[in-house]
Amino acid sequence: MTTVPVTSFQQSLGELPPDNIIFGHSEAVQAIRAQLARVAAANVPVLITGESGTGKDIIARLIHGLSPWKVGPFVKVNCPAIPGTLLESELFGYEKGAFTGAFGAKPGRVEMAHRGTLFLDEISELDHSLQSKLLQLLQDGQFCRIGAQEDKKVEVRVVCATNRDLQTEIENGTFRQDLFYRINVVNLRMPALRERRTDIEDLCRYFLEYYNRKFNCRARPLSAEVLAVLHKYHWPGNIRELENLIKRYVILGHEDALTSDLVHREPDFLNPDISFDGPVSLKKLTRQAVRELERKVILKVLQQHHWNRKQSARTLGISYRALLYKIRDAGLPSNRALRLRQAEEAMPKTGAAAD
Ligand SMILES: Nc1ncnc2c1ncn2[C@@H]1O[C@H](COP(=O)(O)OP(=O)(O)O)[C@@H](O)[C@H]1O
Ligand SMILES: [Mg+2]
Repeated sequence: MTTVPVTSFQQSLGELPPDNIIFGHSEAVQAIRAQLARVAAANVPVLITGESGTGKDIIARLIHGLSPWKVGPFVKVNCPAIPGTLLESELFGYEKGAFTGAFGAKPGRVEMAHRGTLFLDEISELDHSLQSKLLQLLQDGQFCRIGAQEDKKVEVRVVCATNRDLQTEIENGTFRQDLFYRINVVNLRMPALRERRTDIEDLCRYFLEYYNRKFNCRARPLSAEVLAVLHKYHWPGNIRELENLIKRYVILGHEDALTSDLVHREPDFLNPDISFDGPVSLKKLTRQAVRELERKVILKVLQQHHWNRKQSARTLGISYRALLYKIRDAGLPSNRALRLRQAEEAMPKTGAAAD
């Protein structure tokens, strides 16, 4: 076995918003802030969960920045962005001649993260074979480049993020339970923006100043009326959506564009005066209702197109990939789930093998 030398590879941590903006006032985020330094200091895997746009990336970078490995590399892998077949070589690297076109050896991101942090974003997108390789890495720090004769050893701190419910993925057979336990030693759940509405005003002010400076603009502070509208909105895209909205406002310079944009996104959002900060059951019911509506629309469109998913995606105005996600989220049968289940049924049972 060889030990990987320390590399100079470093993905920039980038510019982070100030602490008071990242954490705001809500209890849910304050609880994360309270844990962060201790979590960062311990060499244990961390799983960051939360809807898209809630700041999972920011938290991963903070963990690295607060950790004893902060002088080491921070290496992010956006799992769904790299096509399945390439992901293995991207993650674990390959040796010369491992496959046609492998003219030289290439280290993977795992090696590049040696003595630093490996951030695996959208971890639920790893297929089963890569899940197994990752499990081995987490168990003993070892992995194998494609085409290599022997294992290599690295010291990496692994941080994973997902906006999916991994328990459901486990039930669907698309995520390994043993891997889940390994990556989920510490779980940080980022609250949705509608769960931290008290922070909306500060976030607006922050983004307004930030983009005014960045674009050399002079957009005026938002009026109380507009802030009230923003306060009520349900923010499915969370802080990312708020940031983009303010960015557009700064560029366009007038509030009408901003409010009409929101009305367009959610026709009846001004109608029911529902506060999602209320009891848990309310939150649950509303979430279920939204999911159910989405499920019904998707199902209708799929049926209309005789389950042709490419055509359905076009009709729905979303990408093919996004539709596949939604099909899975809605618990509708997806090709991949069906294939995996068939493959598993065809395989002899070996118990809960850990590698
Ligand atoms: N607490 C926050 N304070 C300021 N900006 C934030 C915060 N959380 C997220 N953002 C901004 O919102 C966008 C999405 O954040 P990101 O960390 O990529 O979310 P996620 O990884 O959960 O999808 C980024 O531009 C980020 O800078
Ligand atoms: Mg992200």
